[in-house]
Amino acid sequence: EEAILLDRHARPLRDLRISVTDRCNFRCTYCMPRTVFGADFQFLPRSELLTHEEIERAARIFVSLGVSKIRITGGEPLLRKGMDALAAKLVALNTPDGRPVDVSLTTNGALLARKAQSLAQAGVKRLNVSLDAIDNAVFQSMTDSDWTVDDVLQGIDAAKRAGIAPIKINMVVKRGVNDEQILPMARYFRGTGHILRFIEFMDVGNTNQWTKSVVYPSSEIIALLNQHFPLEPVSPSAKGEVAKRWRYVDGQGEIGVISSVTQPFCGDCSRARLASDGGFYLCLFGQQSIDLRTLLRESDDDELLRKTITSTWARRADRYSEVRGHVSVTYMRRVEMSHIGG
Ligand code: GTP
Ligand code: 5AD
Ligand code: SF4
Ligand code: SF4
Repeated sequence: EEAILLDRHARPLRDLRISVTDRCNFRCTYCMPRTVFGADFQFLPRSELLTHEEIERAARIFVSLGVSKIRITGGEPLLRKGMDALAAKLVALNTPDGRPVDVSLTTNGALLARKAQSLAQAGVKRLNVSLDAIDNAVFQSMTDSDWTVDDVLQGIDAAKRAGIAPIKINMVVKRGVNDEQILPMARYFRGTGHILRFIEFMDVGNTNQWTKSVVYPSSEIIALLNQHFPLEPVSPSAKGEVAKRWRYVDGQGEIGVISSVTQPFCGDCSRARLASDGGFYLCLFGQQSIDLRTLLRESDDDELLRKTITSTWARRADRYSEVRGHVSVTYMRRVEMSHIGG
């Protein structure tokens, strides 16, 4: 049996987040502000995107090295042509001990009503859908788009009807922007079987004008919700999970909080990221990537890729959220989230 691959903080490589496009049909202010990602923004040309075959090959190699969870992201992954076929290829991968890989997808939901059925047919069992407000005006100002809450809710319903479960709803909370939506969102999703998760606004990338004062700490969210709908903690289902889980005492379901700012979880971070151009990133707040595309295109030798990935992971020491605010990281240039999919 092969030794488990560990980084310099003894963390195994378990999760791979694959971004399949850097484009998006939303312009969320905290992710792709239109001032930066405007009409003349240069997205990656098609020739620089990994093909389906290249993504599948890379994923297979990662799986052979210990990855058992793959998350497909973007940009908006449902903008990628043939997403269902690509998902099916990833679903077909098996871990070295013969278990199927857990494949899921994070989407903004706009195109989900159209695509849910084919994704389910491809074997996608779980789905995370971003939704920052149940009030359409708040939603449209945060996503800076003409898509509506109703479009996203129809997508969620279609996914549910297609048998996808659980569906997790991701709400990024910004103080003074959509914090008044915390309770309405909780009220709406209680009892639906979907897991609503509140995400602290993070300082990813360089363009979203993050300030600490806009972060709404998860502890305050739990305290607020608990006054209206009593909550009790649920024990974590897997090591290295980003969300802390809670359940409504009255049995109306589960919620989660993702507290990257106030309670960082780098200690058992087992995530790596593959950007749509084949850049291999580790930390979400990374600066540099390793170019896997050139290796994928210029060599048929999987062993070369395995060695590159292994040595990169073994050198890994990053834990950005735990050293946030430290002078050594404050002024560094960070990768944009729409490039690596969070
Ligand atoms: P599951 O737990 O498998 O359902 O997925 P997930 O929560 O990892 O994925 P999702 O795409 O829904 O991400 C939810 C939020 O967590 C997003 O805001 C991500 O950017 C954030 N997130 C995911 N992984 C990390 C990480 O390694 N570090 C930090 N700081 N945030 C992360
Ligand atoms: N802070 C927190 N979450 C973010 N996301 C995108 N940008 C940020 C940010 N700056 C979330 C999206 C989506 C997930 C992949 O990441 O809303 O749910
Ligand atoms: Fe698009 Fe998601 Fe970024 Fe919003 S958060 S702009 S939906 S990639
Ligand atoms: Fe992992 Fe970096 Fe996120 Fe910490 S900040 S949990 S090291 S990706």
